Amino acid sequence: MKEIIIAPSMLSANFAELGKGLSEIVDSGADWVHLDIMDGQFVPNLTFGPAVVKDLRQLSNKFFDVHLMVNTPERIAPEFAEAGANAITFHYEASVHSHRLIQEIKGMGIKAGISIVPSTPALILQELLPFVDLVLVMTVNPGFGGQKLLPECLGKVRFLAEEREKRSLDFLISVDGGVNSQNSQGIIAAGADVLVSGSSFFTASDKASFVKGLRG
Ligand code: DX5
Ligand code: ZN
Repeated sequence: MKEIIIAPSMLSANFAELGKGLSEIVDSGADWVHLDIMDGQFVPNLTFGPAVVKDLRQLSNKFFDVHLMVNTPERIAPEFAEAGANAITFHYEASVHSHRLIQEIKGMGIKAGISIVPSTPALILQELLPFVDLVLVMTVNPGFGGQKLLPECLGKVRFLAEEREKRSLDFLISVDGGVNSQNSQGIIAAGADVLVSGSSFFTASDKASFVKGLRG
């Protein structure tokens, strides 16, 4: 059985106590820390920038999975790499020169990911798949935690898993938005390797058993 990576999102932590939120993720036995960066332009919400990521980096060695929901991500990506990101994922819809930015992120010695919103077909990533370390399929419209997963997006996860197999590629498939203990097994069966979880993680009273339950 393949290993499933659980990546709780700091988006649903109490922003007045981010250090505490990070500790809760670390103590739960989850694998990665998902950091949602929103610019109020690409999505109608704002979160935090590289200074916050840098300060959180001082508190933990966990894998920092930075998800940029920002326009012109090429302008800000290097600052997140310097702040201690282990992976930077940006949106296909936000950058004309995705191929170049993927190379730049990898050149900074970290993993590079590409993401698509629910209205973008996965087929559009065909040319990029050999170059990315991760594909993040958004299963809600990005901007807010606590939304319901759009099940039709899972078809894209199946498509990407098939492409990976057919072309002997080795990127990870991440699913982000509305993941919970009821739907996680279906998401894994579709081909996901990484499960991002914001609100369902932070509302779980026993976070360690929640994480175990997501893994299945
Ligand atoms: C949404 C973010 C997600 C968010 C998921 O725009 O990209 O990472 O934190 O939160 P839930 O799990 O509550 O849908
Ligand atoms: Zn995210």
